[in-house]
Amino acid sequence: MATKSTKPSQVLGIDIGGSGIKGAPVDVDQGALLAPRLRIPTPRPADPEAVADVLARLVDHFEWSGPIGCAFPAVIKAGVTATAANIDESWIGFDARRLFESKTGCPVSLSNDADAAGQAEMLFGAGRHHSGTVIMLTLGTGIGSAIFIDDHLVPNTELGHLVVRGKKAEHRASARVRTERQWSWKQWAKRLDEVLNTIAQLFHPDLFILGGGVSKKHHKYLPYLTTEVPVVPAELRNDAGIVGAALACRSEHSPVQERSLLGRAS
Ligand code: BGC
Repeated sequence: MATKSTKPSQVLGIDIGGSGIKGAPVDVDQGALLAPRLRIPTPRPADPEAVADVLARLVDHFEWSGPIGCAFPAVIKAGVTATAANIDESWIGFDARRLFESKTGCPVSLSNDADAAGQAEMLFGAGRHHSGTVIMLTLGTGIGSAIFIDDHLVPNTELGHLVVRGKKAEHRASARVRTERQWSWKQWAKRLDEVLNTIAQLFHPDLFILGGGVSKKHHKYLPYLTTEVPVVPAELRNDAGIVGAALACRSEHSPVQERSLLGRAS
């Protein structure tokens, strides 16, 4: 597959997750994939060297030679992965950007996975016509969060680690907990509702966007939520992480351009 990067609007977006590492070239102006995505199972153990080897395989597959944006499930500070809630501990304090750049030979930018997905939703999905305070939560193995204030991202917010009734939100209401406990959608919605109400009391958002794999089953649990804040499902589904990783890469390299883009998408 030949998709060499030639235009500045093209970025290889890579979404690093617990079970799969997915990538595709993205047109960041359109928020669209330029080729079918490739998914490679996350190696076990998912230590930095093994994950970097998967990135190199994606680069080979797409014959890529341009910028790469990576979404990663941790707090990211200047290319360093700072935390490891649901990933191998060897990532804590690790200079992931440097390793990924040396393995791929491409410039790499890293961002938190929920921040990336949130940027994609704000520009091309459920948040595109909303301003004020918008909070995106990704419901998966953990709970990720992205807070936008008039389109500006407050990065690395980690609301999944907020303690709700003595327990971290992501241990109370992630999609994984629902599966493990074999809860019905209604039982799970009750826990999710507690988390949303706690966040609402603290941040008074104008909108919640719920992402992650469960977003496509939203009709099964949204009716049980009592929070007064409007709640909508994410729209970009599986591709939000890839598109968002690519967008975050561009905003890192040209924040002013991204600000004006986010100033109002169509
Ligand atoms: C991590 C976050 C991440 C979220 C979703 C949490 O456990 O701390 O950084 O965004 O999981 O993957």
